[in-house]
Amino acid sequence: MEKFTTVEGLKGALAARKGSSVGLVPTMGALHDGHVSLVRRARAENDTVVVSVFVNPTQFNDKNDLRNYPRTPEADLEVLRKAGADIVFMPTVEEVYPEPDTRVFDFGQLDKVMEGATRPGHFNGVGQVVSRLLELVKPDRAYFGEKDFQQIAVIKELVRQLAIPVQIVECPIVREADGLALSSRNLLLTAEHRAAAPMIHAAMQAEAETAGTKSVEETERDVIARVEKSPLLKVIYFQLVDEDTLQPVKDWKSAAHVRGCIAVQAGEIRLIDNLRFL
Ligand code: PAF
Repeated sequence: MEKFTTVEGLKGALAARKGSSVGLVPTMGALHDGHVSLVRRARAENDTVVVSVFVNPTQFNDKNDLRNYPRTPEADLEVLRKAGADIVFMPTVEEVYPEPDTRVFDFGQLDKVMEGATRPGHFNGVGQVVSRLLELVKPDRAYFGEKDFQQIAVIKELVRQLAIPVQIVECPIVREADGLALSSRNLLLTAEHRAAAPMIHAAMQAEAETAGTKSVEETERDVIARVEKSPLLKVIYFQLVDEDTLQPVKDWKSAAHVRGCIAVQAGEIRLIDNLRFL
């Protein structure tokens, strides 16, 4: 496995592998088994696997969140070596953005809801870094986890608008044994909040089992009530949305598939998760 911190180094390594199929796994580090599943999938489907580890400042709308985001570079390298990555790109901010990125994307309604509505500018920053990484690495395939369900929709739209020739591969959420979706942010939870957090998935799962038997509105209310039974969890939003458009559904029949998307404040930490309801 080779590690590069510069664009020049990365490009040199990719040039030496010209002609081989390339899979890119973009990450912000603090790697867990969810990331490992993306790297393994990329390993199975490509000759060369590139993993980027870069905490992208332009996608953080909260300075404290950026400052506190977990950074574990040495452990990440070990994880990536074991998972079978070929090239790790761990650049500085200046290397990714030699000049400030002033591009403003228009993702239509896709980023006007949920994460986009509660984290202004977040998806524009995701668009900036992902387009930059895709432009540098020029992968055949790029791998993203479904935990960030809205992010995948935005990235697909980005790739469509910029006509980037890459296949976006969506990979299933990996969960702890107690149901909590794996996230780098789980590392930051206090023991009490960690113990309460599995209720996020449990609440959605319980309501998904009876989806369609009561109204969308009642189901949304009941998921929120189940989560907030714990005084340690505060729901930022829970919405049942059309999986294709991400727009809220009014009734169960108005979309081919309905997905529940949730964001929860657990003390200082913001957690997200999602589940197909119907
Ligand atoms: O999902 C993430 O970890 C980040 O949003 C991504 C896609 C690596 C862009 O910084």
